[in-house]
Amino acid sequence: MSTSGDLTVEKTADDDAPATNLNRKQPFPRGFLDTIATGWADRPDQLPPTRPQAPYAAARRAAVSAAFPGRRLVIPAGSLAQRSNDTDYPFRAHSAFAHLTGWASDTVPDSVLVFEPTDDGHEVILYLRERADRTTAEFYADASIGEFWIGPRPSLDGVAADLQIATAHLDGFAHVDGELVVDRDAELTRFVSELRLCKDEYEIAQLRLAVEVTARGFDDIVADLPRIIATPRGERAVEGVFHLRARTDGNGEGYDTIAASGPHACYLHWTRNDGPVVPGDLILIDAGVEVDSLYTADITRTLPVSGAFTPIQRRVYEAVREAADAGFAAARPGVTFRSVHEAAMAVIAARVAEWGLLPVTAEEALDGDRGGQHRRYMVHGTSHHLGLDVHDCAQARRELYYDGILQPGMVFTIEPGLYFQIDDLTVPAEYRGIGVRIEDDVLMTADGPVNLSAGIPRTADEVEAWLARG
Ligand code: GLY
Ligand code: MN
Repeated sequence: MSTSGDLTVEKTADDDAPATNLNRKQPFPRGFLDTIATGWADRPDQLPPTRPQAPYAAARRAAVSAAFPGRRLVIPAGSLAQRSNDTDYPFRAHSAFAHLTGWASDTVPDSVLVFEPTDDGHEVILYLRERADRTTAEFYADASIGEFWIGPRPSLDGVAADLQIATAHLDGFAHVDGELVVDRDAELTRFVSELRLCKDEYEIAQLRLAVEVTARGFDDIVADLPRIIATPRGERAVEGVFHLRARTDGNGEGYDTIAASGPHACYLHWTRNDGPVVPGDLILIDAGVEVDSLYTADITRTLPVSGAFTPIQRRVYEAVREAADAGFAAARPGVTFRSVHEAAMAVIAARVAEWGLLPVTAEEALDGDRGGQHRRYMVHGTSHHLGLDVHDCAQARRELYYDGILQPGMVFTIEPGLYFQIDDLTVPAEYRGIGVRIEDDVLMTADGPVNLSAGIPRTADEVEAWLARG
């Protein structure tokens, strides 16, 4: 039996739960057991409408089926993961499962998508745990899945109508010899990752939406800066303001918000967010809303907390902006993904050499074998694919990813940065503790890149004007 908080109840008189769980259970008296199954209104038998992404997911399933003739394919949604004791992390379906079913934030945990080979392709079946009848103990006593505890669960017919996929009860699912399972079979895992490299029109619309609602979160942070500064753990307040906006709009977040003030900005994935936000410092905010369909934005802005950049902060900021602009200028259909990075890094190398921070020239630093000295100040890549995962298509082959060709429909970030760690003795003291990243989300089209996040202030002047408006 599962338990939850002080609402723990006992399933039946012969429940075999470990003794340690008995300390706060109430037994179910006979009167409860005799009456709990009755007195409920019939469930509405109206089926839900088909969701808009269903035909797109069907086309993706057709591509998977064509690539693996005669093979049984298994794509699990995943299961709840334990956080501590009897509390779990919020459930989030596997991205391949969401992509191939169209089932997203409302996925029932433990569901499994199966491609059964047939003579002319595959029969696709979505196995899920059918909701329990109200006569069962699961209904009223299972805090993990019982509808009394977690709320209504969909019926098999309802999911089939919603997603336009044949459904069956999870009890009927069994692994068989020779099948391919996502995350266990390298070829299938790679294929479903590469299938997401180019987004269809539904996905592009969802990514536009994710960026739009993320922009609101950044606006809220800017508007709330005075209160954030006054909060001892101001970084937590930044995270909280963004979270509040995401949740208030009915959404989630695609990854843990990075709210990195002062020298914390130099730690690339600073998610502890336990420091103050101090006037005179910069604050780097890297955050993205994940909408219901599970597509996420990934945007970074770096703000001068006092409202204006110091001359050295502005110099670093504008160098990063110049690198980002160089990345945009290099991005067009037909060039390699890595040419965006190379264009941005050429600017980074040129600027840090010009400032006297390198022991070699910019040209020497850019040498593929003996260079790289400038990378101390920007160790990460300039771009990654974006979609259902913040780092989307992560299992794609290098020749289709880093060495791949940019194509219309690809969505990726351009996010150069410069980071001078607080204890980096290779730079003059005035640079130490300054970290800047500017990250935009980009849609490649036949006509070139479209900056989906262009509406969020980007240049140093625009950022100062934004802060002045509050
Ligand atoms: N948003 C964090 C990253 O791109 O790594
Ligand atoms: Mn990113």
